[in-house]
Amino acid sequence: PKAVKIGICGLGTVGSGTVNVLQRNAEVIAARCGREIEIVQVGARRDNPACDTSAYNVSREIFDVATNPEVDILVELIGGTTVARELILAAIENGKHIVTANKALIAEFGTEIFEAAARKGVTVAFEAAVAGGIPVIKALREGLSANQVEWLAGIINGTGNFILTEMWEKGRDFGEVLKEAQALGYAEADPTFDVEGIDAAHKLVILASLAFGIPLSFDKVYTEGISRIETTDIQYAAELGYRIKHLGVARRRNEGIELRVHPTLIPEKRLIANVNGVMNAVLVKGDAVGPTLYYGAGAGAEATASAVIADIVDIARTLEVLPGQRVAPSGFFSDSHCSSGVLPV
Ligand code: HSE
Repeated sequence: PKAVKIGICGLGTVGSGTVNVLQRNAEVIAARCGREIEIVQVGARRDNPACDTSAYNVSREIFDVATNPEVDILVELIGGTTVARELILAAIENGKHIVTANKALIAEFGTEIFEAAARKGVTVAFEAAVAGGIPVIKALREGLSANQVEWLAGIINGTGNFILTEMWEKGRDFGEVLKEAQALGYAEADPTFDVEGIDAAHKLVILASLAFGIPLSFDKVYTEGISRIETTDIQYAAELGYRIKHLGVARRRNEGIELRVHPTLIPEKRLIANVNGVMNAVLVKGDAVGPTLYYGAGAGAEATASAVIADIVDIARTLEVLPGQRVAPSGFFSDSHCSSGVLPV
């Protein structure tokens, strides 16, 4: 079958992680996908030494990717809500499917983008926008689709959780740990988004919209960050048997859906109190399934790339491999990968 052709825009932390994982795991990804994934163009204003793009057609003009007739899927990893919005809308107009990690864009302009995509009959996938590598969008959309969601709550900003953890475990200074989070590629380009709860609010409205069927309503979230928390607050909380965690909470109430992000005191024995470092965790309570928990790395190059590539594979499975023929979306490795009597590992 012919390869699915993608164009990647942006070579920052997530862009370079995506290129690296696609290169390293090309064989296993192709086997799961039923076809190869070919990077036909990379749009980036500058190179990133963290990945090797010498084998690709690299354009300094990212809009080239939106108009490239070869591209089936445009992967938007530039971030922000101005150029990224124009790029995605242009690509949709050109009939491209979209994969994005851009939570701010989905939370604030998602309605416009999904309407444009519906008009053109293309898919916009955004697993990487929430909780890094944790497949929580797929869990809400697919795994829990039979449920009325009663509430969801989680640690959904990796940078903030890393800062709180380091302050608690090692008594480190807030600003110093934030600098480290930036160096590790966890933080947003503007880290105010991380420490003032804005990034968590973006993610919460995306989760709540999927869980409760409400419009994307970023302006409705009560938003408080961790910037005023001091090491002494964390120490006093610990003396009383609590951890301070920054949570996003969405809950069905009689009046409507409550949406809030803020620091919370959590009894130290609770699972979520023990989610440390860059890890995220999301609890979702469904009426049929009961409480469920999703845990994993909430930020970082390859963890986020894992979610980006999962979306590429998902879309690739829906595309024709030959005229009139699609790959069965089973998720099993294709037969060609199995020699007789030997299981692929
Ligand atoms: N800055 C974000 C975080 C990146 O720390 O969670 C992942 O969305």
